[in-house]
Amino acid sequence: MSFPIVRNRRLRGSHALRNLVRETQLTVNDLIYPIFVTVGTNIKSEIASMPGVYHFSLDRLEEEIEEISGLGLQAILLFGVPEHKDAVGTSAYAEDGIVQQATRLIKKQKPDLLIVADTCLCQFTDHGHCGVIEHNSLTNRSDVKNDLSLELLVQTAVSQAQAGADIIAPSNMMDGFVHAIRNGLDDAGFEDIPIMSYSVKYASAFYGPFRDAAHSAPQFGDRKTYQMDPANAREALREAEADVIEGADMLMVKPALAYMDIIRNLKDHFDLPIVAYNVSAEYSMVKAAAQNGWIDEKAIVLEMLLGFKRAGADIIITYFSKDVARWLR
Ligand code: PBG
Repeated sequence: MSFPIVRNRRLRGSHALRNLVRETQLTVNDLIYPIFVTVGTNIKSEIASMPGVYHFSLDRLEEEIEEISGLGLQAILLFGVPEHKDAVGTSAYAEDGIVQQATRLIKKQKPDLLIVADTCLCQFTDHGHCGVIEHNSLTNRSDVKNDLSLELLVQTAVSQAQAGADIIAPSNMMDGFVHAIRNGLDDAGFEDIPIMSYSVKYASAFYGPFRDAAHSAPQFGDRKTYQMDPANAREALREAEADVIEGADMLMVKPALAYMDIIRNLKDHFDLPIVAYNVSAEYSMVKAAAQNGWIDEKAIVLEMLLGFKRAGADIIITYFSKDVARWLR
């Protein structure tokens, strides 16, 4: 009788043995929980396409923050839905903007909870694009003006830092945004505030439910002139490299599930912490299947998030953060 030469099953023989040789761990420290704040009073309304995720008005925020922090989560990503939108996204950088107000409130309540501010204009512009639109009469096309948009994004980042944000996360995909925002923050005395750059952000259909949540769908055209083509992998390295040179402190890949190869590529090429954004439709798909009884939600979510870590993510932004924090207890 000839025996197998290698027996990989030996290390799978018991729970304790599997624990001993496990290569990847998922912990509550890895997670960032996105929350949506809105103007108005006494609002806690569920986002239809994202069951379990809510809009909160400022007066209803306190209980939510208490719960998040009680679960041991250490960081939130803040999105604002403003009352007023205009062509240049004024409420994104207003001192009393919704994100700035929420930041001050949360900081007062829980000074140690890290607030990551999403720095973009699309929720605040009436046209829904991430920067300022200019019409080119030569080509008869309208597009986002890069350098003009940078000035407004810098103002946004500085006002978020002034309100107390701990980390600035620019998601607008303008060229040179890390450099511009770094300079702006430094000039304003915020040289110690890190930039979590949405370095590699694809023009993705997986943002659909978020755009319902943030009321930020573009009113014309799409985001393909500034967000990346899902077909490209080497370009992701160029985007990340530019951000590293410009002073980014963390590099994000977004979305996550269909882009695990990109997460791995960035991990292998750069030494900065890698962030995976498990985006809205990745959440909604799991929720819908779970509500139909087709999948085991807990097992699926934990396997998915472990997969992001195995692919190379150090940090995961996910709408499942509160559930995961409960499950890992
Ligand atoms: C803002 C922004 C978007 C998301 C995060 N920041 C939307 C977009 O670019 O259209 C999407 C997050 C998600 O889908 O969960 N630019």
